[in-house]
Amino acid sequence: MEHFEAFLAAHLPVAASFHPHYENSLHQMLLGGGKRFRPALLLGVVRAYNPLLAQSAYHAALAIEMLHTYSLIHDDLPAMDNADLRRGMPTLHKTYDEVSAILAGDALNTYAFEVLSNAPFSDRVIVKLVRSLSYNGGVEGMVLGQAIDCYFENQRLELDQVKMLHIHKTGKLIAAALQMGAFIVGRDDLAQELYDFGIDLGLLFQIQDDILDITQDESQAGKTTKNDEAKNSFVTLLGYERAMEEANTLAEKVTRQMESFDENLQRELSPTLNHYINRHKD
Ligand code: IPE
Ligand code: IPE
Ligand code: MG
Ligand code: MG
Ligand code: MG
Repeated sequence: MEHFEAFLAAHLPVAASFHPHYENSLHQMLLGGGKRFRPALLLGVVRAYNPLLAQSAYHAALAIEMLHTYSLIHDDLPAMDNADLRRGMPTLHKTYDEVSAILAGDALNTYAFEVLSNAPFSDRVIVKLVRSLSYNGGVEGMVLGQAIDCYFENQRLELDQVKMLHIHKTGKLIAAALQMGAFIVGRDDLAQELYDFGIDLGLLFQIQDDILDITQDESQAGKTTKNDEAKNSFVTLLGYERAMEEANTLAEKVTRQMESFDENLQRELSPTLNHYINRHKD
């Protein structure tokens, strides 16, 4: 992923003006690292089926990372999770102020689609990528999940409802990353299978995140932890032991699904997946 990091650093949004920190506020969280999980998934699919398109696919990987980064900036705001630390640094509203963080999120959200619209693909492919990222990131995707997450703080949901919440706030964007990879290489026949796999993987990723919220301290996580008490997290709902069982069961399912993929796809996705599938046990 070093190449992706270099690409990201070379393709940051440019907005020179007399504003003292506007441009920096757009860059800070993007440059703050993060696991780059969604870009790695998208690029893994592309490398499996057409490595010659990997360089072009960086544009799409960057777009999804921008949209994800916007979601984190807004997630940390006082009106949402009120967190002080993200990607090992103070959150944007702590570094600057709430207005700057809200607007940086807005800008990265729309810039994601500007990047996609300029990506070196056919118009047909670009439309599919825009559709996938907007659907899964927006009204019926991540934003719906965040709306439910925040509205139902301090109100206990049923397990199925929490799964629905996690699938929306986290699963759909992870599913989109895999689906976008399939669209880039023209393997639309695989898009649905990869999308469905991504939903399971994303649910697992969020259950793990709920577990890590209680097991990791801020320096390990690089973000505010022990912050889910009022939330419908898997741990607050089921307790640590049962949340671990849910994660283990889902990790096994995801592993079996991965083993059913063709050889190329397994080869390209397994380094990323093996690294994350059992991270709740660390
Ligand atoms: C954090 O996402 C929010 C969730 C959806 C769990 P990541 O865990 O992918 O955060 P970064 O990108 O590594 O910072
Ligand atoms: C947020 O979930 C998912 C997003 C869409 C940003 P969390 O609120 O659990 O993410 P963290 O723990 O703050 O990274
Ligand atoms: Mg949240
Ligand atoms: Mg949060
Ligand atoms: Mg969390």
